[in-house]
Amino acid sequence: MKVLHVELDQHRSYPIYIGSGILANPAVWTQHIRSQQVLIVTNSTIAPLYLSGLQNALSAYQLESVILPDGEQYKNLAHLEQIFDQLLAKKFSRNATLIALGGGVIGDMGGFAAACYQRGIAFIQIPTTLLAQVDSSVGGKTGVNHPLGKNMIGAFYQPQCVIADADVLDTLDDRQLSAGLAEVIKYGLIRDPEYLVWLEQNMPALLARDKAALAYAIERSCINKAEVVGEDEFESGVRATLNLGHTFGHAIETGRGYGHYLHGEAVAIGTCFAADLSRRLGWLADADVQRIMAIFKAANLPVVPPAEMTTDQYVELMAVDKKNIDGKIRLILLEAIGKASLPVNVDLSQLQATLNHYPTTLA
Ligand code: NAD
Ligand code: GLY
Repeated sequence: MKVLHVELDQHRSYPIYIGSGILANPAVWTQHIRSQQVLIVTNSTIAPLYLSGLQNALSAYQLESVILPDGEQYKNLAHLEQIFDQLLAKKFSRNATLIALGGGVIGDMGGFAAACYQRGIAFIQIPTTLLAQVDSSVGGKTGVNHPLGKNMIGAFYQPQCVIADADVLDTLDDRQLSAGLAEVIKYGLIRDPEYLVWLEQNMPALLARDKAALAYAIERSCINKAEVVGEDEFESGVRATLNLGHTFGHAIETGRGYGHYLHGEAVAIGTCFAADLSRRLGWLADADVQRIMAIFKAANLPVVPPAEMTTDQYVELMAVDKKNIDGKIRLILLEAIGKASLPVNVDLSQLQATLNHYPTTLA
């Protein structure tokens, strides 16, 4: 097992446990549970796979659980209520612990519920998708969607620890594995070009679920994420670079209806849009954009935007984003492969050129 640390101030630093068989060996991490009352939040797909194992491992505690319906379309305030209902019905106190057992949807919802319940109870992230293990479980961004905007209601709220047990990825389907690779590739593009080369060379091994390759990718991704979050927890600067491709991607997720495109798929297309716009600014060469498209394709991710969405629809949806200031769209772009910009005020005509012409301009 590897232990990384997210270094924060005021005694809020926390470990990320990465390895195999950690869930079945809770002695490693039960010191992070603060009291007898423990609520496990999960969903209807993950519960039959992993809930009883976790309940057995934690049988010494007063355990309760909430099983939410599975899907991005349920990541909303209405379904958050179910968590509060259970916490209140079971009379959970302020020293209780909430465990989020699931992918990014459950992690974001569970974390936000923990942030709100009695103004904050402890929570533990047990990410069960590759995407959640390499990105969403680390860094304390929690929240839910609104019909008009993705992740627009939420809080920064850090977990007590993150438990990334690679064994749970065995049951993840191939489409979800690829979606997780979109966020893995992101780290290579924004700040770790040697990692990008490693990913280009090892993509077949990752898709074949080679254990050593996956373990390396989880660890190196978490190292990148922990460094960025440690430097800028509340996103006043460099943390925004983790949003490469996300403004376009969130527009696709919202525009096509939550759940139609997986988050990682939308981010892959969005990153290609961002690469095309970076090329228009003279920062990337055609060959760089083609290299970026090639690695997403190698990961079995889409690079062509949905035909159903219009340029006006993108612009309208991208106007609702947490990076925007005074209603002006701001994007993370690439100054070079391996070096992301801070948020850039984009010229509407250049944004429209990308939205109108990518990917045909590169054909
Ligand atoms: P997800 O949570 O919807 O999980 C994907 C699917 O895999 C679901 O159907 C789930 O039930 C299933 N699943 C999960 N674990 C499984 C397992 N071990 N075996 C079999 N099936 C399993 O999606 P995701 O890709 O994990 O997360 C996407 C969400 O994360 C989005 O809402 C996105 O906005 C959010 N996100 C948050 C952050 C952050 O910093 N908080 C970062 C990136 C993404
Ligand atoms: N996934 C973006 C962030 O954690 O900041």
